[in-house]
Amino acid sequence: QPGLEAQLANVADEIAYKLGTQTIGHEILSYDELDSTNDVAFKRGEQGAKEGVCVFAEHQKKGRGRLGRVWQAPKGKNLLLSYLLTRRLRTWQVSINTLRAALSVIKEALKMSGETLGIKWPNDIVFEEKKLCGVLTEMSAEADRVNFVVVGIGVNVNATGSELPPGSTSLKEILGREVSRVEFARCLLKEIENDVNQFKKGRFAELCKEWEEFSATTGRRVVATLLDRKIQGQATGIDKDGALWIRKDNGLQERIIAGDIQHLRNSS
Ligand code: BTN
Repeated sequence: QPGLEAQLANVADEIAYKLGTQTIGHEILSYDELDSTNDVAFKRGEQGAKEGVCVFAEHQKKGRGRLGRVWQAPKGKNLLLSYLLTRRLRTWQVSINTLRAALSVIKEALKMSGETLGIKWPNDIVFEEKKLCGVLTEMSAEADRVNFVVVGIGVNVNATGSELPPGSTSLKEILGREVSRVEFARCLLKEIENDVNQFKKGRFAELCKEWEEFSATTGRRVVATLLDRKIQGQATGIDKDGALWIRKDNGLQERIIAGDIQHLRNSS
């Protein structure tokens, strides 16, 4: 229905209408403009809100990416979403949440497009090496106990060309048509709930296996930029904690839990 998205006050209602999920999206907040959807979801976490609160925005003034980067999106074109998870998690389980969020997005995007989308470790969704989606997970934790986790997802939906940061693409560019953000958001929340339920059942191994199926990184030559050094080698896959293993040219394996990687041409 045209025009629905223009009525910003109603976006939350549009998304919530007969959504049919149990937890994810039981409370939906939608803003015209804010600093970061992650901040609002984090505040709800501090206030003791229940798992599944979702925050959407048309525009972020201080959108954050991983590793201190900014996340840019033109107003009203893309999907900017954060959701709150409050289950008792161990710190090592948090990065699995990030991988899982990327999986939910990719599964949803694949339903629309037969194109080859892949996940670049840990959580970028890429199409022909161009970024379609990023995930930023933040948490409130003490020692080994996690109080809550906020998963922030940015999907380039209808922004095109110069509206996108360099090296990025969008669903509109891939599909050649506009995509309803409300419809995409509704489907995505259902997919996230499914995946959250899998996780509750402790199916980490299955999730990792599923992640591997979409991995654009496994088998590639990569350079990993770590805090203090760079390593180069072949990515051999992720383990059950979501860490990436790289076989260096001297044959030694390294396990990367955080950081940034770059895909190289396989001959380099
Ligand atoms: C990355 O690829 O570096 C992660 C990007 C995450 C962006 C999303 S947009 C919604 C949420 N709010 C933020 O400030 N960041 C995340």
